[in-house]
Amino acid sequence: MTKDLTQLEILTALEPVAETNLNRHLSMAKEWHPHDYVPWDEGRNFAAMGGQDWDPSQSGLSEVAKVAMVTNLLTEDNLPSYHREIAESFSMDGAWGTWVGRWTAEENRHGIVMRDYLVVTRSVDPVALEQARMIHMTNGVQSPEEWGGFLDNVAYVTFQELATRVSHRNTGRVCDDAVADRMLQRIAADENLHMIFYRTLCGAGLDLAPDQAMFAITKVLTNFVMPGYGMPNFRRNGVLMAKHGIYDLRQHLDEVVKPVLKQWNIFERSDFGARGEQCREVLGTWLEQKEAEVLKFEEQRDRLLAREAARAELQPV
Ligand SMILES: [Fe+2]
Ligand SMILES: [Fe+2]
Repeated sequence: MTKDLTQLEILTALEPVAETNLNRHLSMAKEWHPHDYVPWDEGRNFAAMGGQDWDPSQSGLSEVAKVAMVTNLLTEDNLPSYHREIAESFSMDGAWGTWVGRWTAEENRHGIVMRDYLVVTRSVDPVALEQARMIHMTNGVQSPEEWGGFLDNVAYVTFQELATRVSHRNTGRVCDDAVADRMLQRIAADENLHMIFYRTLCGAGLDLAPDQAMFAITKVLTNFVMPGYGMPNFRRNGVLMAKHGIYDLRQHLDEVVKPVLKQWNIFERSDFGARGEQCREVLGTWLEQKEAEVLKFEEQRDRLLAREAARAELQPV
């Protein structure tokens, strides 16, 4: 049996790949400014400055859009916690350090622009939003205890970036507001570039240490929870978002998990040893189970939505 590479060996071996892909990222990333995405002329003072405090009637967003916006924003707000995980496992040396700094700065923009939009347009209760942020940031990211190290983290962020891209894009759709949609599409484009960086580095990790990387990928996918875990009302909000197609298991499998596994050639590779093969089998079984769950979930959702529609028709106008 081959010995596992140490964290330092992996980081040293992959540093040239990190450098090439950092440069690629910098050449692809577009400069943009949060203030260009916020309708400032809709803003006015709150009571503390002689104006009026928030009232639910001021929001133009549906319940689903509000929940999705707040969930996505609180995830962005938790950046210090994600930064810590990434900085610790990627190191702050050379290209790794430059990437960690740059990625953190780009992510920070997402929280800035979303909060500005929500507060200026009075789309959500700013007091409730601030209270939720305090709770969520105080808790920090809660990743499973057995996680740690470069391979676990790079596998996780690959899927997470893609998941947030899908979630931002679909949130833009349900907002029914061209300004919000444009802002969320801008953010989603950033998330896509982040995903490409992490996916490439994790792919290089697979080539370097196939069994070790496959072990990490399997662990991450079979334990994956959306960012936002630990947020106030995470379960209820997650169910609501799934029900309305902002992020559900079908999207998780078809738009996030499977395309990445395909890119890494997971089910066609011939460089796994016994441990990698075993993990691939576990992952294959997990995928089959999830496919069955998706079908069940979709049937239930269709029935539920049909019932709700029928009930709405019976309501006196
Ligand atoms: Fe982000
Ligand atoms: Fe991102």
